[in-house]
Amino acid sequence: MAPDARVGKLWIGTNWKMHKTLAEGQAYCSELMRVAENLHPDIELFVIPPHTHLHALKTLMARSRVRLGAQNMHWEDEGPYTGEISPRMLAEIGLDLIELGHSERRQYYNENDADINRKVHAALSHNLRPLVCVGETAEQRKFGITEEVLAIQLKIGLSGLSREQAEQVLIAYEPVWAIGAGGVAAEPGYVEDVHGCIRRLLAALFGESGHRIPILYGGSVSESNFETYLDRRNVNGLFIGRAAWDIGRFSRMLLAVHRRMSA
Ligand code: PGA
Repeated sequence: MAPDARVGKLWIGTNWKMHKTLAEGQAYCSELMRVAENLHPDIELFVIPPHTHLHALKTLMARSRVRLGAQNMHWEDEGPYTGEISPRMLAEIGLDLIELGHSERRQYYNENDADINRKVHAALSHNLRPLVCVGETAEQRKFGITEEVLAIQLKIGLSGLSREQAEQVLIAYEPVWAIGAGGVAAEPGYVEDVHGCIRRLLAALFGESGHRIPILYGGSVSESNFETYLDRRNVNGLFIGRAAWDIGRFSRMLLAVHRRMSA
């Protein structure tokens, strides 16, 4: 199995959400670095821990191929925003990625597409790659407006980007109804259809550059279903929550992907 030629790589990573102490995170990343050493070079591996762990984990993983990201940030470089972290602070740590617009941020902290757009621009100006999360709710799916919802999220979220900037972006398609303990994993055929729709939107917005933007699937990806997504068109990676928080389980999944790509 080779990754889509125009995207070039298969992106696999995890967001820890509000889980793991720093000590637990260090133990996890030490093992992940060890596993990463022997993985196929076309696998782009990333981990997105809580903010408090980033500096120490960057030091730990300085020479590793594992990319490090943060779960959220403000769009301003500095200012009277108690409790927020700025792109300048994250860039100073030397992060690679910034996750933006996860459905939990949209749902519990009222983030909207215009906020996410400001953050995307701020990230790019600090050389952080935005990982922009999009996805419809169960109700939106029921009413048959998934495509419209994704178009709104992407058109606003990526508004004002040049084609060159768009190529720095990663998209995670995460249907809200598939995420977390109460979620149901999406059918691979459904994921392929929606990723195709996202690809057409990206191509309409950014031309050929839209074909080079990786589109990852996330939402109840598990050790028993992850491979079913990998052969699907326009699935350029996986964004995994719970199933990747145990390093033994995540390593088994990574080694299986490695074997498929090396076959
Ligand atoms: P999950 O989380 O894999 O635990 O469903 C996915 C996500 O929120 O990105």
